Amino acid sequence: DVVDSTNDEARRQAEAGAADRTLVWGGSQTGGRGRRGRVWQSPAGNCYSSLLLRPAVPPAQAAQVSFVTALAVVEAVDLCLPAGRRVTCKWPNDVLVDGAKVSGILLESRMTSSGSVDWLIVGCGINVASHPATADYAATDLRSAGAVVEVPVVLEAYIGRLELWLRRWQEHGFALVRQAWLARADGIGAPMQVRLPDRTLHGIFAALAASGALLLLEQDGNRRAITAGDVYRAA
Ligand code: BTN
Repeated sequence: DVVDSTNDEARRQAEAGAADRTLVWGGSQTGGRGRRGRVWQSPAGNCYSSLLLRPAVPPAQAAQVSFVTALAVVEAVDLCLPAGRRVTCKWPNDVLVDGAKVSGILLESRMTSSGSVDWLIVGCGINVASHPATADYAATDLRSAGAVVEVPVVLEAYIGRLELWLRRWQEHGFALVRQAWLARADGIGAPMQVRLPDRTLHGIFAALAASGALLLLEQDGNRRAITAGDVYRAA
Protein backbone atom coordinates (compact mmCIF):
# COMPACT_ATOMS: atom_id res chain seq x y z
CA ASP A 1 0.00 0.00 0.00
CA VAL A 2 2.71 2.46 0.99
CA VAL A 3 6.29 2.34 -0.18
CA ASP A 4 9.20 4.79 -0.07
CA SER A 5 9.67 4.62 -3.84
CA THR A 6 8.75 1.71 -6.09
CA ASN A 7 12.10 2.26 -7.83
CA ASP A 8 13.91 1.84 -4.48
CA GLU A 9 11.92 -1.31 -3.65
CA ALA A 10 12.63 -2.70 -7.14
CA ARG A 11 16.34 -1.96 -6.62
CA ARG A 12 16.30 -3.82 -3.29
CA GLN A 13 14.56 -6.74 -5.00
CA ALA A 14 17.09 -6.64 -7.84
CA GLU A 15 20.05 -6.68 -5.46
CA ALA A 16 18.44 -9.66 -3.66
CA GLY A 17 18.35 -11.55 -6.98
CA ALA A 18 14.75 -11.02 -8.16
CA ALA A 19 14.01 -12.20 -11.68
CA ASP A 20 13.52 -10.28 -14.91
CA ARG A 21 9.95 -8.85 -15.13
CA THR A 22 9.48 -8.51 -11.36
CA LEU A 23 6.87 -5.77 -10.86
CA VAL A 24 6.58 -3.47 -7.86
CA TRP A 25 3.32 -1.54 -7.47
CA GLY A 26 2.75 1.01 -4.72
CA GLY A 27 -0.56 2.56 -3.63
CA SER A 28 1.29 5.69 -2.57
CA GLN A 29 4.94 6.69 -2.14
CA THR A 30 6.57 8.57 0.72
CA GLY A 31 9.72 9.32 -1.29
CA GLY A 32 8.61 9.33 -4.94
CA ARG A 33 11.39 10.57 -7.21
CA GLY A 34 11.32 12.21 -10.61
CA ARG A 35 14.07 12.84 -13.12
CA ARG A 36 16.96 15.12 -12.21
CA GLY A 37 16.46 14.60 -8.48
CA ARG A 38 12.98 16.15 -8.41
CA VAL A 39 10.21 15.04 -6.06
CA TRP A 40 7.32 13.07 -7.63
CA GLN A 41 4.27 13.80 -5.51
CA SER A 42 2.68 10.43 -4.83
CA PRO A 43 -0.69 10.53 -3.05
CA ALA A 44 -3.02 7.50 -3.12
CA GLY A 45 -5.19 7.32 -6.24
CA ASN A 46 -2.46 7.47 -8.89
CA CYS A 47 -0.47 4.64 -10.45
CA TYR A 48 3.13 4.08 -9.26
CA SER A 49 5.04 1.11 -10.60
CA SER A 50 8.54 -0.15 -11.29
CA LEU A 51 9.36 -3.05 -13.54
CA LEU A 52 12.66 -4.83 -13.04
CA LEU A 53 14.33 -5.92 -16.26
CA ARG A 54 17.52 -7.83 -16.85
CA PRO A 55 17.96 -7.17 -20.59
CA ALA A 56 20.86 -8.82 -22.37
CA VAL A 57 21.91 -5.62 -24.16
CA PRO A 58 24.80 -3.14 -23.89
CA PRO A 59 24.14 -0.09 -21.65
CA ALA A 60 23.68 2.29 -24.60
CA GLN A 61 20.79 0.19 -25.86
CA ALA A 62 19.19 -0.07 -22.42
CA ALA A 63 18.39 3.66 -22.61
CA GLN A 64 16.10 2.89 -25.56
CA VAL A 65 13.68 1.33 -23.08
CA SER A 66 12.51 4.83 -22.13
CA PHE A 67 10.98 5.21 -25.62
CA VAL A 68 9.56 1.67 -25.44
CA THR A 69 7.92 2.59 -22.13
CA ALA A 70 6.55 5.92 -23.35
CA LEU A 71 4.83 4.10 -26.23
CA ALA A 72 3.26 1.64 -23.79
CA VAL A 73 1.98 4.50 -21.63
CA VAL A 74 0.61 6.42 -24.64
CA GLU A 75 -1.35 3.38 -25.78
CA ALA A 76 -2.61 2.55 -22.27
CA VAL A 77 -3.71 6.14 -21.67
CA ASP A 78 -5.41 6.18 -25.07
CA LEU A 79 -7.34 3.03 -24.11
CA CYS A 80 -8.58 4.70 -20.90
CA LEU A 81 -9.67 8.03 -22.35
CA PRO A 82 -12.76 8.94 -24.33
CA ALA A 83 -12.25 9.57 -28.05
CA GLY A 84 -10.99 12.96 -29.12
CA ARG A 85 -8.17 13.40 -26.61
CA ARG A 86 -4.71 13.96 -28.09
CA VAL A 87 -2.20 11.67 -26.39
CA THR A 88 1.44 12.33 -27.30
CA CYS A 89 5.02 11.53 -26.30
CA LYS A 90 7.27 14.39 -25.21
CA TRP A 91 11.01 13.87 -25.49
CA PRO A 92 12.62 12.12 -23.78
CA ASN A 93 9.92 10.21 -21.94
CA ASP A 94 6.88 12.13 -20.76
CA VAL A 95 3.34 11.46 -21.92
CA LEU A 96 0.92 14.32 -22.49
CA VAL A 97 -2.85 14.57 -22.84
CA ASP A 98 -3.81 17.63 -24.88
CA GLY A 99 -0.39 19.09 -24.08
CA ALA A 100 -0.47 18.50 -20.29
CA LYS A 101 1.78 15.95 -18.56
CA VAL A 102 -0.07 12.85 -17.36
CA SER A 103 2.89 10.52 -16.86
CA GLY A 104 6.62 10.49 -16.18
CA ILE A 105 9.18 7.72 -16.53
CA LEU A 106 12.37 7.23 -14.53
CA LEU A 107 14.89 4.63 -15.69
CA GLU A 108 17.63 3.51 -13.31
CA SER A 109 20.22 0.84 -13.96
CA ARG A 110 23.29 -0.87 -12.64
CA MET A 111 26.12 -2.26 -14.71
CA THR A 112 28.16 -5.33 -13.89
CA SER A 113 31.94 -5.00 -13.50
CA SER A 114 32.26 -6.35 -17.06
CA GLY A 115 30.11 -3.46 -18.38
CA SER A 116 26.86 -5.30 -19.19
CA VAL A 117 23.48 -4.37 -17.68
CA ASP A 118 22.90 -6.11 -14.35
CA TRP A 119 19.43 -4.63 -13.87
CA LEU A 120 17.29 -1.91 -15.38
CA ILE A 121 14.35 -0.48 -13.46
CA VAL A 122 11.51 1.14 -15.38
CA GLY A 123 9.74 3.46 -12.95
CA CYS A 124 6.49 4.94 -14.19
CA GLY A 125 4.01 7.30 -12.59
CA ILE A 126 0.61 7.82 -14.23
CA ASN A 127 -1.70 10.50 -12.80
CA VAL A 128 -5.09 8.85 -12.48
CA ALA A 129 -7.09 10.72 -9.82
CA SER A 130 -4.99 13.84 -9.24
CA HIS A 131 -2.08 15.86 -10.54
CA PRO A 132 0.27 18.34 -8.91
CA ALA A 133 0.05 22.08 -9.41
CA THR A 134 3.23 22.78 -11.34
CA ALA A 135 4.71 26.16 -12.15
CA ASP A 136 6.73 25.50 -15.30
CA TYR A 137 4.55 23.02 -17.22
CA ALA A 138 0.89 21.99 -17.44
CA ALA A 139 -0.15 18.73 -15.77
CA THR A 140 -3.33 16.66 -15.80
CA ASP A 141 -4.76 13.31 -14.70
CA LEU A 142 -6.91 10.71 -16.41
CA ARG A 143 -10.10 11.55 -14.50
CA SER A 144 -9.74 15.27 -15.28
CA ALA A 145 -9.30 14.27 -18.92
CA GLY A 146 -12.60 12.37 -18.86
CA ALA A 147 -11.63 8.77 -18.02
CA VAL A 148 -13.74 6.75 -15.61
CA VAL A 149 -11.04 4.34 -14.54
CA GLU A 150 -9.40 2.74 -11.52
CA VAL A 151 -5.66 2.32 -10.92
CA PRO A 152 -5.55 -1.52 -11.40
CA VAL A 153 -7.12 -1.17 -14.84
CA VAL A 154 -4.59 1.50 -15.82
CA LEU A 155 -1.71 -0.64 -14.53
CA GLU A 156 -2.91 -3.72 -16.38
CA ALA A 157 -3.30 -1.79 -19.63
CA TYR A 158 0.16 -0.25 -19.26
CA ILE A 159 1.98 -3.46 -18.34
CA GLY A 160 0.26 -5.37 -21.15
CA ARG A 161 1.37 -2.77 -23.71
CA LEU A 162 4.85 -2.64 -22.18
CA GLU A 163 5.29 -6.39 -22.54
CA LEU A 164 4.21 -6.12 -26.18
CA TRP A 165 6.56 -3.22 -26.98
CA LEU A 166 9.49 -4.84 -25.14
CA ARG A 167 9.02 -7.91 -27.30
CA ARG A 168 8.86 -5.82 -30.49
CA TRP A 169 12.01 -3.96 -29.44
CA GLN A 170 13.84 -7.19 -28.65
CA GLU A 171 12.77 -8.83 -31.91
CA HIS A 172 12.98 -5.91 -34.35
CA GLY A 173 15.31 -3.38 -32.71
CA PHE A 174 15.08 0.32 -31.99
CA ALA A 175 14.20 1.45 -35.54
CA LEU A 176 10.62 0.17 -35.16
CA VAL A 177 10.25 1.81 -31.74
CA ARG A 178 11.70 5.09 -33.03
CA GLN A 179 9.24 5.15 -35.93
CA ALA A 180 6.26 4.49 -33.66
CA TRP A 181 7.46 7.06 -31.13
CA LEU A 182 7.85 9.68 -33.90
CA ALA A 183 4.29 9.02 -35.06
CA ARG A 184 3.08 10.00 -31.56
CA ALA A 185 5.65 12.72 -30.82
CA ASP A 186 4.81 16.18 -29.60
CA GLY A 187 6.57 19.19 -31.08
CA ILE A 188 8.53 17.88 -34.06
CA GLY A 189 9.29 20.92 -36.22
CA ALA A 190 8.30 23.30 -33.42
CA PRO A 191 10.47 25.92 -31.69
CA MET A 192 11.89 24.53 -28.44
CA GLN A 193 13.87 25.53 -25.41
CA VAL A 194 16.23 22.90 -24.03
CA ARG A 195 17.18 23.60 -20.42
CA LEU A 196 20.55 22.18 -19.51
CA PRO A 197 22.02 22.45 -16.00
CA ASP A 198 24.20 25.42 -17.02
CA ARG A 199 22.30 27.13 -19.88
CA THR A 200 19.24 27.15 -22.12
CA LEU A 201 19.42 26.35 -25.84
CA HIS A 202 16.89 27.58 -28.41
CA GLY A 203 16.02 26.01 -31.75
CA ILE A 204 13.66 23.80 -33.71
CA PHE A 205 13.03 20.16 -32.73
CA ALA A 206 14.25 18.94 -36.13
CA ALA A 207 14.29 15.16 -35.70
CA LEU A 208 15.00 12.20 -33.48
CA ALA A 209 18.45 10.68 -34.13
CA ALA A 210 18.79 6.95 -34.69
CA SER A 211 20.28 6.83 -31.17
CA GLY A 212 17.23 8.51 -29.60
CA ALA A 213 18.93 11.90 -29.16
CA LEU A 214 16.86 15.02 -29.92
CA LEU A 215 18.29 16.91 -32.90
CA LEU A 216 17.97 20.63 -32.29
CA LEU A 217 18.37 23.00 -35.23
CA GLU A 218 19.82 26.13 -33.67
CA GLN A 219 19.32 29.67 -34.99
CA ASP A 220 22.83 29.69 -36.53
CA GLY A 221 21.97 26.57 -38.57
CA ASN A 222 23.94 24.25 -36.30
CA ARG A 223 22.34 20.83 -35.64
CA ARG A 224 23.01 19.79 -32.07
CA ALA A 225 22.29 16.33 -30.65
CA ILE A 226 20.74 16.58 -27.18
CA THR A 227 21.01 13.43 -25.09
CA ALA A 228 19.65 14.79 -21.77
CA GLY A 229 17.77 17.88 -20.67
CA ASP A 230 14.32 19.35 -20.11
CA VAL A 231 12.50 20.41 -23.25
CA TYR A 232 9.81 23.08 -23.41
CA ARG A 233 7.89 24.49 -26.34
CA ALA A 234 9.02 28.06 -26.94
CA ALA A 235 6.25 30.62 -26.45
C1 BTN B 1 9.64 12.39 -14.17
O1 BTN B 1 8.83 12.78 -15.02
O2 BTN B 1 10.41 13.19 -13.62
C2 BTN B 1 9.70 10.93 -13.85
C3 BTN B 1 8.73 10.56 -12.77
C4 BTN B 1 8.78 9.09 -12.40
C5 BTN B 1 7.86 8.76 -11.23
C6 BTN B 1 7.75 7.30 -11.01
S1 BTN B 1 6.44 6.90 -9.88
C7 BTN B 1 7.01 5.26 -9.80
C8 BTN B 1 8.52 5.31 -9.74
N1 BTN B 1 8.96 5.49 -8.37
C9 BTN B 1 9.57 6.68 -8.20
O3 BTN B 1 10.03 7.09 -7.11
N2 BTN B 1 9.60 7.35 -9.35
C10 BTN B 1 8.97 6.60 -10.44
